[in-house]
Amino acid sequence: MKQNNIKDILKKNPLIPVATIKDISQIEEYYLKLKAQDIFCIEITLRTDFSWKAIELFKANYGQEFKIGVGTVTSKEDVLKCKSMGVDFMVSPGTSINLIEEFNKSGIPYISGVSTPSEIIQFMELGCNCFKFFPANIFGGLEALKNFSNLFSEIQFCPTGGINASNFKDYLALSNVISVGGSWLLK
Ligand code: 3PG
Repeated sequence: MKQNNIKDILKKNPLIPVATIKDISQIEEYYLKLKAQDIFCIEITLRTDFSWKAIELFKANYGQEFKIGVGTVTSKEDVLKCKSMGVDFMVSPGTSINLIEEFNKSGIPYISGVSTPSEIIQFMELGCNCFKFFPANIFGGLEALKNFSNLFSEIQFCPTGGINASNFKDYLALSNVISVGGSWLLK
């Protein structure tokens, strides 16, 4: 079972809003913003002191309606906490062999970040076939993904970093892009 079936979630949710939540007021604000755009999925990053509380509250209030993912997962401790909170998916900005092992053990769907062919090959060897391509705008954007599709025809990507209202459709039109992520959906 590759990456605990993350592709099911990404296929159904081609737009993944990346939320960095600083205080309680943003929970309902973001919920309403996303619902108005017909988006029922969110990635809440672990980048503020309030992050875990935000995940808990978002899940308690909107967990029936939303797929709730955790972003910026970088350690075994983060993975275990995600497991204990019953989140729907996990996202990491980069990848290590240990982190992949922890992700697989958790049973929670996940994507982890890559930006170069060597990383892609390394983690393909561990059975991964779907990655976050991050930061997409810095590591070659659309042109890099077109190259990757020639090199790695079986691999799907969720580009994130510099995706916005004017370029997200170009990314989604690529055959190896399963979804796109970004903070622009919450601005
Ligand atoms: C992420 O963690 O995925 C990025 O910070 C999102 O990048 P963006 O703010 O450029 O969309």
